[in-house]
Amino acid sequence: MAANLYSSSKQIDTILVLDFGSQYTQLIARRVRESNVYSEILPWDINEEKIISIKPKGIILSGGPDSVTNSYTPRIPKIVFDLNIPILGICYGMQTLAEQFGGQVISSKKKEFGYSQLNISSDCVLFSNLGKTLNVWMSHGDQVQDIPDNFDLVAVTNSAPIAAMQHSTKPIYALQFHPEVTHTEDGKTILDNFIFKVCKVNHDWNMEDLIDQRIKEINNQVQNNKVLLGLSGGVDSSVTAALLHKAIGNKLVCVFVDNGLLRKGEAEEVMNTFKENMNLNVIRSDSEEVFLRHLKGIEDPEQKRKIIGRTFIDVFDAEAKKLKNVNFLAQGTIYPDVIESSGSESKEARVIKSHHNVGGLPEEMKMELVEPLKDLFKDEVRQMGAELGLSSDILNRHPFPGPGLGVRILGDITKEKTTILKEADHIFIEELIKSDLYKSVSQAFAVYLPVKSVGVVGDERRYAEVIGLRAVETIDFMTARWAHLPYDFLEHVSNRIVNEIEEVSRVVYDISSKPPATIEWE
Ligand code: XMP
Repeated sequence: MAANLYSSSKQIDTILVLDFGSQYTQLIARRVRESNVYSEILPWDINEEKIISIKPKGIILSGGPDSVTNSYTPRIPKIVFDLNIPILGICYGMQTLAEQFGGQVISSKKKEFGYSQLNISSDCVLFSNLGKTLNVWMSHGDQVQDIPDNFDLVAVTNSAPIAAMQHSTKPIYALQFHPEVTHTEDGKTILDNFIFKVCKVNHDWNMEDLIDQRIKEINNQVQNNKVLLGLSGGVDSSVTAALLHKAIGNKLVCVFVDNGLLRKGEAEEVMNTFKENMNLNVIRSDSEEVFLRHLKGIEDPEQKRKIIGRTFIDVFDAEAKKLKNVNFLAQGTIYPDVIESSGSESKEARVIKSHHNVGGLPEEMKMELVEPLKDLFKDEVRQMGAELGLSSDILNRHPFPGPGLGVRILGDITKEKTTILKEADHIFIEELIKSDLYKSVSQAFAVYLPVKSVGVVGDERRYAEVIGLRAVETIDFMTARWAHLPYDFLEHVSNRIVNEIEEVSRVVYDISSKPPATIEWE
C-alpha cells in the first residue's frame, strides 16, 4: 500500500497509531475510523521516512506487552517528538512516554485488570463534557510512579497514582487505561476529543474517496498487466474482485474453483453474479472429481484440510499456467488476517489467511501480490462492497470455511454424502431466511454424521444417516454461544429434512458452545 492513502490526490487527515504490540491496537484504529477519520497503524520501529510521508495530524501510542523497566524494550522514536504534533500515549505508550520524559515507571505488585474507577482531578480537554468519575478498563502491571517534569496529573484510580497526565505546554496526553475498549465508559468520546479537539482533524474519510484512491493505487501497481484472483464467492474475495474489476476491467482474470464441497447452488450463484451480471472475466474450474479422488478414504480432519488445500493450489496453478503474462496475484486479505505478533517491524510475522489456502501460492508462482483490502476491517469491506454494487446476499453471507463441506462430513467424503449434506444444509438455510432468523445467527450449517440410526417413515422402517444442525451467535468466532432457535422452527426444519431426504432418518441440534466445542465439527 502507498505510504499515505491520499498522497496522490487530496490530502486526507490521518491519525497514526504507533503499535507497541497490544492486543487492542487494531481497535484504536477502528475507533478512529468509526469517526470518519482515516487511521493507519505502523510498528513502533518503522523508519522515520515512512512516518514523515504519512503527514499525521496526531499520533496515538498503543499499549504493549513489554516493560519499560527492562532495557532494550520498545521506545518512542525521536521523529514522533520532532514532528511537533499531538501525541496520546495509552498504557505502555503512556509508560514509555513518562520514562522518556524523565518520570519513573515501576513494576507494580498490584496488577490491575478489568474495571477501575477513574477519578478526574483537573481539567483536561480529553475529558471535556464528561463526569468527574468514569468506569475504565485497565490491563497493566507496570505504572507511572513519578510524573515527569512539565507534566500535570489529570486522574487517578485506587491503584494507579497517575492514571492520566498531560504536558503543561505541549499537546501530549497519556492514559493508563484503554479508551479504545468498549468497556471503558465514554472511551469513544475521549478518543474523539483527542482527534477533533486536540488534533483538529476533519472527518472526511469516506468510502467513495477510498475506492477512488484504491483504484489509482491498483493502476499504479499493476500498470497494464493482467491480475489473477482466486474467487471463492466469500465476502472478501468478492469485494476484491469488484474493486479490481472497476480498476482494471477485463485485465482482471478470476479463477473460481468448484471443488464439489461448496453449498448447494453456490457455484452457479457465483458464476451468475460475477460473470453474467457483472461481466467479470471468470474462469470456472469444475474440479469436483479430482478433489473427491484425492480425498477418497481419508478420515482424519487435518489430513483432509491439507489435501483440499494442496489440491486447490494444484488446480489453481494449472489454470494460471494456461494464461500468459500474468505477474500479479490478487488476494482478499483483510486487516484482521494480518497479524503482527509483536508490533515490531523487525519481528513482524504476517499470517495470510488459510481460506482456500491461497497463502502458499505467491511463492510458488513467483507473482507479486495485490492486496487492496489489507488495511480494512470486515464491516468496512462490506461497506465498500455495497458501494461497488454487490448485493447484500453476498455481503451478509455467513462465513464458509475454505475446506467447505469437507470438514462438515465427518470421516471420509463421497459424492453421495456431499449430495445429502448439500440438500440438508440448503433446507436449513432456506428456512432460516424465510423465518427472518438468518441474520440473527452468525453462522449456521448442517453436518453429516456417518452413524446409522433407526427411523420409521410411514409404515416403513428406515435405517439411515443422521444430520446435525449447528447455529451459533458470535462476534469474533473465537468464542460462540449456540443459537437458541425456536423449537417450532427446529421442528419444521427437522421434518422437512427427514421427509425430503430419503437417506436421513434423524436430525439433531448441536447445543455445544465454544469453548469447549469448536464451531465446525472437525
Ligand atoms: P472453529 O471450528 O475453529 O471455526 O470454531 C471458527 C471459524 O473458522 C472457520 N473455519 C475455517 N475457515 N479454513 C477456513 O477458511 C478452515 O480450515 C476452517 N476451519 C474453521 C469456521 O467456519 C468458523 O467460521
